[in-house]
Amino acid sequence: MSTKHPDARNLRVLIIGSGAREHAIAAALQRSPSAPMVSCLGSSGNPGIMDISLQTGGDYIIGSITSPKEVLAIARETGIGLAVIGPEAPLETGAADRLRTAGIPVLGPDKAQARIETSKSYARNLMQRVIPEACPAYQVVTDIDAAAAFLAELGDNFVVKADGLTGGKGVKVSGDHLNSRQEALAYCRELLEAKNGLEKNTCVIEERLDGEEFSLMTITDGRTCRHMPPVQDHKRVFNGDLGPNTGGMGSYTDADHSLPFLGKEDLLQAGRMNELIIEALGAEHGHPYRGILYGGFMACAQGVKVIEFNARFGDPEALNLLTLLETDAAELFFSAASGTLDRIPVTFARKASVCKYAVPEGYPESAVRGTEIELGNAAETASIYLGSVDLRGTRLLAGGSRTAAATALGESIEEAERAAETAVSAISGQLFHRTDIGTLPLLEKRIAHMRRLRGEA
Ligand code: AMP
Ligand code: GLY
Repeated sequence: MSTKHPDARNLRVLIIGSGAREHAIAAALQRSPSAPMVSCLGSSGNPGIMDISLQTGGDYIIGSITSPKEVLAIARETGIGLAVIGPEAPLETGAADRLRTAGIPVLGPDKAQARIETSKSYARNLMQRVIPEACPAYQVVTDIDAAAAFLAELGDNFVVKADGLTGGKGVKVSGDHLNSRQEALAYCRELLEAKNGLEKNTCVIEERLDGEEFSLMTITDGRTCRHMPPVQDHKRVFNGDLGPNTGGMGSYTDADHSLPFLGKEDLLQAGRMNELIIEALGAEHGHPYRGILYGGFMACAQGVKVIEFNARFGDPEALNLLTLLETDAAELFFSAASGTLDRIPVTFARKASVCKYAVPEGYPESAVRGTEIELGNAAETASIYLGSVDLRGTRLLAGGSRTAAATALGESIEEAERAAETAVSAISGQLFHRTDIGTLPLLEKRIAHMRRLRGEA
């Protein structure tokens, strides 16, 4: 069956962003039978994406990804027919709005719609309206007395969130980062008094949920929604889910496109919630939501609840999914960006995948940067996506964030894990990774936790 989208052939694509997620986006586009020309506007040089740009005849430009004016100027210079926005920062500043107004199809929502990620209070208020059953008890507070009263109501299970984008570092959870109500109040005070340019500071206090987290991403043109297989990320830096939170140390998917601790109903609920939010964001802003909606869910004792929504591909989740993607990526992204997603089916390989990040020693709090790394023969067993690295001549140096990710596929999670582990271990330098992601003992722990919660143990 030929489903080729006539406009996706010989497409010039501009990727905005230069991390491992964008490297995975570039690699998926390079595999595309439509043979697009792949250019990239990044805040720094990513040698992996640079190679792909070179090989496909595109350009690599280092510049400001958060200046919509600059993004549009680069888009015009490179004569693109599609922009794919990777990270949240350009969404927050309105890069997608500017490009779309200039007639360029964009995979990524407008600034107002991206508030589903960039404002925790906006997101919770919308959820409360559209999917109240999935929303924990919460309050948006502007003064310390209200914060104290709601914390008292919640008892021992609370979470305090900064309202804006904080790169995952603005969330503090009771029992984890906050050991008492006094500590929670002190953190609320810090957030409410912070001078962040807002007229009135707010923070969100919510009930702490217990369960297993998973991510479900949906690609959409605002009408048609295509759900991707669910993924489990690992936020904590050390084995056994210990240590501080990070951007994500690695992730896995299963060959059956579910996760070992999830039931059918959980996935249906999560997919339905993404659809309802996409619909609401379209209705509220008077134009369709086009891009990725990333639901961060918690499978709880009673069904699925929402932790957060993001307006983009997850990192590392996208590394799993884009490696598994069978559909022509150029056609897929173009269709979602231009309102014709109903024309193409979206398929992912029926394989398991495991992704593991190598990060610098000291990450996330005091990463050792600038040390030399070598990829060795890592690419023999896995797809290697480069993140925070610098190219000095022919030498690769680690930057201050996640360095490189190895993503391997297999018939089972265990098989994919072994290949990812071999690959990530082959990357040499002052780096470390989590050796437990995708291993049987950790999977069994997750399954047992879920069974206990649901009274099945
Ligand atoms: P967020 O930036 O909202 O995704 O929060 C970061 C992390 O904090 C999540 O991945 C969860 O592990 C945790 N978290 C956030 N909200 C809650 C909640 N209501 N209950 C339990 N954990 C939460
Ligand atoms: N995997 C976490 C994120 O992309 O926000």
